[in-house]
Amino acid sequence: MSQELTLQQRMDGEGGSDPLRRAVKEAVAALAQAAIDISDLTCRGALAGITGKAQGRNTDGDVQKDLDVRADQIIREALGALPIAVLASEEMADLEILNPAAPISVAFDPLDGSSNINTNMSVGTIFSIMPTPSDASAAFVQPGSAQLAAGFVVYGPQTSLVLTLGQGVDIFTLDRVERVFKLTGSTVQIPPNATEFAINASNRRHWDLPVRAYIDECLMGADGMGGKDFNMRWIGSLVAEAFRILIRGGIFLYPGDARDGYEEGRLRLVYEAHPMAFIIEQAGGGATTGRQRVLDLVPRTLHQRVPLIMGSIKNVQRLEHMHTAPDVALETNAPLFGHRGLFRV
Ligand code: AHG
Ligand code: MN
Ligand code: MN
Repeated sequence: MSQELTLQQRMDGEGGSDPLRRAVKEAVAALAQAAIDISDLTCRGALAGITGKAQGRNTDGDVQKDLDVRADQIIREALGALPIAVLASEEMADLEILNPAAPISVAFDPLDGSSNINTNMSVGTIFSIMPTPSDASAAFVQPGSAQLAAGFVVYGPQTSLVLTLGQGVDIFTLDRVERVFKLTGSTVQIPPNATEFAINASNRRHWDLPVRAYIDECLMGADGMGGKDFNMRWIGSLVAEAFRILIRGGIFLYPGDARDGYEEGRLRLVYEAHPMAFIIEQAGGGATTGRQRVLDLVPRTLHQRVPLIMGSIKNVQRLEHMHTAPDVALETNAPLFGHRGLFRV
């Protein structure tokens, strides 16, 4: 039996036995148990009836896959008996008010990376835990900086849980024999400088100038103003990109673009960008829309989208500089204006 601390032992060691901290830890433990059940489904795939087949659409117009729906059910069952005021899920049109007097509220993306389900690529679960305000219906009308905890699970070669309770980021790996998460990485720090970017490059013609300038600078490599060669990754699963960045650094971009409905990008503020931003900042990285810090944003609507650029702090700051100093973007792009850029357009 391996000696690593279990998730429960690590949380018990975090102190804070006041009712609020206790409610947070109970919710995290329940979410971890739900993740083990979801992991059982993902690793059996079609043998568990998981085919990635569409079952309808959610309020955001996304196709709802079988595992989206089952993961949502598993999580809501796991949280149902706990002192939680409000639940919000990517797969639910509206808030679910459970116990308005309870101290915490939980928002979650039950299955992130749905398009990867039937291609055997990593998918995940993302969650955000907020203090419940006096008006419980406003639980997710708070800045991301109000979060008490945030986490995500990657159902990949390993099933890993990434968690912050506001004092740094820990990584836990599922011990399948004992069916418990065990601590495999503590106080994780993202390398400040990275040479790897993640963006869906097929959308280049839709990006605005600062993003195009930043990516072109990466593509110019050592020949450009950035002075170093870059590598590129795009998995189509936010959780997998985030995990890679926590381990080896990098910058992830899902910007707003000119496509209809993508003016604010694709990712949702309440249950994707806010929790990811909390984790990335706790690990020494940055998370921005390009112009604003994501954790400063207060959602206007439950499924509101937001541009999300996050990762190694120096790379994020470079991208932000290009948004606030357009001449830099133009200057960076100047070498390409002479010809049609590195992508044939
Ligand atoms: P979800 O499956 O919960 O809708 O999330 C998918 C998101 C995110 O995980 C990923 O980074 C992004 O969608 C991929 O978007 P594209 O398919 O447009 O590249
Ligand atoms: Mn998602
Ligand atoms: Mn999802």
